[in-house]
Amino acid sequence: MAARVAILGTGRMGSAAAERLASQGYELILWNRTREKASTLAEKLGAKAVPAPFDAVQEAEYTLIFLSDEDAIYSVMSTFHRMDGAIIVNHSTITPHGSSRFQAFVESLGGCYVEAPVLGGPSTLRKGTALIVVAGKNRCKDAAKSVVGTLAGEIIDLGEEPEKAAALKLSFNSLLIGSVGLLAESLLLSQAYGIDSETVKKVLSKTVFGPVAEKYIDRMQRDPGEEASFTLALAMKDLDYALRTGFYKGLPQHLTAGALNLYRLGVRYGLGEADYTRIYHIIKGEKRE
Ligand SMILES: NC(=O)c1ccc[n+]([C@@H]2O[C@H](COP(=O)([O-])OP(=O)(O)OC[C@H]3O[C@@H](n4cnc5c(N)ncnc54)[C@H](OP(=O)(O)O)[C@@H]3O)[C@@H](O)[C@H]2O)c1
Repeated sequence: MAARVAILGTGRMGSAAAERLASQGYELILWNRTREKASTLAEKLGAKAVPAPFDAVQEAEYTLIFLSDEDAIYSVMSTFHRMDGAIIVNHSTITPHGSSRFQAFVESLGGCYVEAPVLGGPSTLRKGTALIVVAGKNRCKDAAKSVVGTLAGEIIDLGEEPEKAAALKLSFNSLLIGSVGLLAESLLLSQAYGIDSETVKKVLSKTVFGPVAEKYIDRMQRDPGEEASFTLALAMKDLDYALRTGFYKGLPQHLTAGALNLYRLGVRYGLGEADYTRIYHIIKGEKRE
């Protein structure tokens, strides 16, 4: 019989994971803060939607978390009770400190905690090709492997301390989000001299920046009204988490701090729900006119 999997948070990532798991025969129990989102998805996938997060945890063997940030996880986990044997896998991007706290809390209730951040967007989860780094106690990771493996093309195991997976994910995201901001500035500099983006892409394709230019130059210039796959608000949250995490280790992070200020500006302009590559339009001064 197919395993029962609870998904807490049916936003972009959670709904993509649900689609993948449903297509592979898993029985799903869905919960979302905005109830209609979970019930609409449950209807589409032949799954069940429940009114409270702990209802989902209790009915499932595995619980996957796809929530925006640590505050969301704190408010959801605070409703958990004794749950001996439950396997909780967090796929949200959080800080190493949060990761250690969530592990301790889940273990205090008799559950098992695995940190499993995703390096890739909703489309990789939907196809089952995501790159997922995992860390947690071996017995917890071994138990979670079959479900996480259904979402992943590759799993990289970072050992038994969940905070390591959270730290690696943040260091990757500060590199990615900062690079997209720098690419936008660099593209605008060329464009200011009448060089079109196809020429920039052609030149960059001969360099180490080829794949980045190929993936992001068109995306950052597309119609701003298009659906986001990763929002500017979440990109800002990740830079903020990365900055705090580095600060606690005494690391100077000049570029991360600069990128955070830029993305904060985007959110202040009311573009938090836009795709994070919209930062190109912010730098261009679209909103300053
Ligand atoms: N999108 C990506 O490409 C991507 C890639 C890798 C990792 N991630 C990470 O994955 C996580 C989910 O991202 P996403 O893109 O799926 O975000 P999303 O589409 O904005 O969904 C966020 C989810 O969190 C819920 N939520 C927010 N605040 C809450 C609260 N206080 N209490 C309970 N639920 C709350 C939302 O519920 P409502 O529907 O009620 O608002 C929604 O289900 C984030 O940590 C993100 O950084 C995203």
